[in-house]
Amino acid sequence: MRLTMIALAAVTAAAALAPAAGHATTLSPIQEGRRAWLKYNCYGCHGANGAGGMGPNIQHQEAGDVSSAMNGDAKEGGMISFTGIATSTDAKNIAAYLGSIGTKNEPTWVDWWNPVP
Ligand code: HEC
Repeated sequence: MRLTMIALAAVTAAAALAPAAGHATTLSPIQEGRRAWLKYNCYGCHGANGAGGMGPNIQHQEAGDVSSAMNGDAKEGGMISFTGIATSTDAKNIAAYLGSIGTKNEPTWVDWWNPVP
């Protein structure tokens, strides 16, 4: 009896970790970009949706510029380098996100750790 209850608890915990049924489990590059944007705290300097803050407005920034800034090109101006922290895919996704700002595809959720926004 006791063993059955432990086994049942394990099954329940596994079910709770699985993504909710009926939701897409893969995110689009725009959504992944929003997630990376939040996760790497880009918004802390560039504003919640890239409109600018301590750092410049970078909405609709070209992918190449996002990548070079993330790799240390904006260091002299006060931006940290993300070399070894973020991947080139992160940079591409972030560029996709920045390009979506102001369109109907712009994601606005704020909890990057949610498996399904
Ligand atoms: C510590 C604050 C800070 C953080 C965090 C930060 N940035 Fe920056 N960023 C800046 C500053 C300041 C500049 C301007 C640098 C300059 O003028 O040379 C800048 C410049 C840029 C530029 C170039 C803008 C242009 O006009 O050429 C891009 C693109 C950019 N950041 C993207 C990002 C992304 C993406 C992230 C997150 C992965 C991020 N930044 C995180 C402060 C920050």
